[in-house]
Amino acid sequence: MFAMSKQDAEQVSEAEIAVHWGEEKLIQPSPEFIAQANMTDEKIFERFSLENFPDCFKEYADLLDWYKTWDLTLDTSEAPSWKWFVGGLINASYNCVDRHLAQYKNKAAIIWVPEPEEESHIVLTYQELYVRVNEFAALLSDKTGLKTGDRVTIHMPMVPELPVTMLACARLGVIHSVVFGGFSGNACGERIADSGSRVLITMDGYYRSGKLLDHKVKADEAVKTANKEGQEVEHVLVWRRYGDRNASEAPMVKGRDHFVDELLPAYRGKRVEPVQLPAEAPLFLMYTSGTTGRPKGCQHGIGGYLAYAAATSKYVQDIHPEDVYWCMADIGWITGHSYIVYGPLALGATSVMYEGVPTFPDAGRAWRIAEQLDVNIFHTAPTTIRMLRKAGPDEPAKYNYNFKHMTTVGEPIEPAVWRWYHEVVGKGKAVIVDTYWQTETGGFLCSTMPAIHPMKAGSAGPAVPGIHPKILDEDGNEIPRGANKAGILIIQNPWPGQFQTIWGDQERYVETYYAKFNKDPKSKDWRDWPYIPGDAAMEAEDGYFRILGRMDDVINVAGHRLGTKELESACLMVDAIAEASVVPVNDEIKGKVPDIYISLKPGFEASDEIKLAVVKTIEESIGKIARPKNVWIVPDMPKTRSGKIMRRVLASISNNQDVGDITTLANPDIVEEVRRMVQGK
Ligand code: WTA
Repeated sequence: MFAMSKQDAEQVSEAEIAVHWGEEKLIQPSPEFIAQANMTDEKIFERFSLENFPDCFKEYADLLDWYKTWDLTLDTSEAPSWKWFVGGLINASYNCVDRHLAQYKNKAAIIWVPEPEEESHIVLTYQELYVRVNEFAALLSDKTGLKTGDRVTIHMPMVPELPVTMLACARLGVIHSVVFGGFSGNACGERIADSGSRVLITMDGYYRSGKLLDHKVKADEAVKTANKEGQEVEHVLVWRRYGDRNASEAPMVKGRDHFVDELLPAYRGKRVEPVQLPAEAPLFLMYTSGTTGRPKGCQHGIGGYLAYAAATSKYVQDIHPEDVYWCMADIGWITGHSYIVYGPLALGATSVMYEGVPTFPDAGRAWRIAEQLDVNIFHTAPTTIRMLRKAGPDEPAKYNYNFKHMTTVGEPIEPAVWRWYHEVVGKGKAVIVDTYWQTETGGFLCSTMPAIHPMKAGSAGPAVPGIHPKILDEDGNEIPRGANKAGILIIQNPWPGQFQTIWGDQERYVETYYAKFNKDPKSKDWRDWPYIPGDAAMEAEDGYFRILGRMDDVINVAGHRLGTKELESACLMVDAIAEASVVPVNDEIKGKVPDIYISLKPGFEASDEIKLAVVKTIEESIGKIARPKNVWIVPDMPKTRSGKIMRRVLASISNNQDVGDITTLANPDIVEEVRRMVQGK
């Protein structure tokens, strides 16, 4: 199941640590930060100890409003699919919108910043959000007949209509599946088919790097792909970037496509009662990449997920209603779901959304936004930090903003980049949390508690309350705590934010995340089901975890997970290609990017056209984020005697590393030939 052997994991970690991950000094949070923080009580870790599991999580669920409280905190009868707060009735839209009206109806819920700097911001107060969510929910149920339990695919950019759409679905109990706007129509279509959505909600266009991109064309491709896979799309609802004109040239298909702004007037003033749903009913699907080609629809439930997103937003993100909180992720990823929409809005916070590229039109844009809106909590990924640092290392000093708190998420951050974030962006004052988690986990697994723990550059920190990790070796033996030795990270216990299953594929769910260390597949005891995130990690003496990266065939490009198998099967769509192998290569800004090795069918000659065809196919079938750094056309792939392509050898070549022992390969000579081609000497 794991491509990386124990030996590989150790090699990577040992090397990384020796080269540039030396022990870092601890930095204390400031007294000013501690004085205002939501969580300063160290006893929280005792309250959330394993002895108090699972009832400790009542503390999190109590942050929400329930129509009916639950009878059972954790139901393990379908292990390892966990059901939280069973018997409880709840609605996520009510919790993120309606319940704030009494106190905050006139307060900003969402502040939207368009990319063109001359366009005005849009501010949705909680009252305005309430009105829009209700009207759109009324439209959805009336026009498309969507009802509780149906799935809908949403392929939209970063516009305020996106959270409105999600919350309208949540109000009705319709399960939303948001697909990242940058994904191709084809990738969206596959997800439509997998989720069985008969409605697609999209947008005509949006701005990126100064260009108004046509997005509606992707909807037409998506419908075509879904159709090919047997899923008919009956309705395509198209929001418009500008109410009165089209940002897309794609024609509207009669009877299928509708402009939302033309339908909405019929629903003015309409109100839709939030549906009272069982806590464990699904709230959304979020597709992510895995070891095989097919993306996995991670299914998150309402009560557990929302409780966990709200609590971690409150205690780790330290969000208060009066803060101005800006998470620069895209809502099309889990970070945006948990920490732009559901977590912050459940707390009555003000969440800033930005449409475009952080360096457009120049390296000061992000800091101008922060200054203008007086943002005090800032949340982004190492890739963006590296990019902003490169584009304007001294830029933050020119702007008068004041961050109290900053987050980094999605990939390991190098200590040097962390220090720039701390000293230059945070002006030496803001606390930093390095949050380690995944699509599957719904919320944070490891992070410092910002007012309790000191920070350590390059380490995510200890586990957050209620999460109990361990590090195991390949055979499942525990690596002693604090040993500073690399191994397989596992979490011993379930927690409310955790996903419930892979949509339509329970077997794959069990196999991927639990089977390896489970000794009794029939067990209903959670202790028998350690959760395996798929990352290698090590724990330092002080209990801080350092995440070393994926152990499966997933490349983390700029914090986005891409499956190598997905990329490889895309390559094989180019006629000339016989075999393809995709490996991660280090990149100064994006952390890792794919390098592609291909061999050709007999009768084809290597050419630039073939390389271009590969790049084009990847962009069309997945999206521009998957664009490779290089396409290498090689005479043959290094293979084992049983014919398996040795990705590890190719990865070493791409990264200028020693290829190690290759004597057991079927064709060791090819390695030197490929190496010379790639490294040029
Ligand atoms: C990686 C993103 C190091 C890890 C929230 C994980 C990290 C994958 C960190 C999940 C971090 C995430 N330090 N690595 N702070 N956060 N990762 O599902 O490999 O898009 O398994 O969720 O990103 O990516 P995903």
